[in-house]
Amino acid sequence: MTKLQLEKLINSKVLMVLPLFGVLLSSCSSDPSGTVAEGKMIYTDNCVACHSLKSSFNNQSSLLQLSSLDSVQLTIKIHGMRVDSIHAPYSRKLSDRDLQSISLYIKDVRTLRY
Ligand code: HEC
Repeated sequence: MTKLQLEKLINSKVLMVLPLFGVLLSSCSSDPSGTVAEGKMIYTDNCVACHSLKSSFNNQSSLLQLSSLDSVQLTIKIHGMRVDSIHAPYSRKLSDRDLQSISLYIKDVRTLRY
């Protein structure tokens, strides 16, 4: 095998492996699972102005009221936020992972005692 053939072989192997790295990387960065801690930060930045912990004004549910929604209702509401007219301005820029983190945080509040 000549040096050229060897280089071609190595190159073709590298090219075959590259897409695999791509898939692995993208599946990491778009991991939709999220965390409670991230949810707390995102909620504080985007939601707490209207849905504060206990107080509820202008008929907006408090965080505690949101946390008492059942999981299915909460998931439907949170994932519909990017298109509902009240929430779109606050949630359009949030990723699926951000929304998932918010759901985890709201559900987590249920287990805390205030
Ligand atoms: C500008 C004020 C405002 C902001 C900011 C806001 N909301 Fe709302 N949200 C409302 C209003 C008004 C309603 C309808 C009344 C209600 O159910 O609280 C509502 C309803 C909801 C509901 C449904 C409550 C139910 O009982 O069905 C959820 C869940 C919710 N908001 C989550 C969020 C999350 C999460 C964020 C942050 C990404 C957010 N909201 C940001 C005003 C706001």
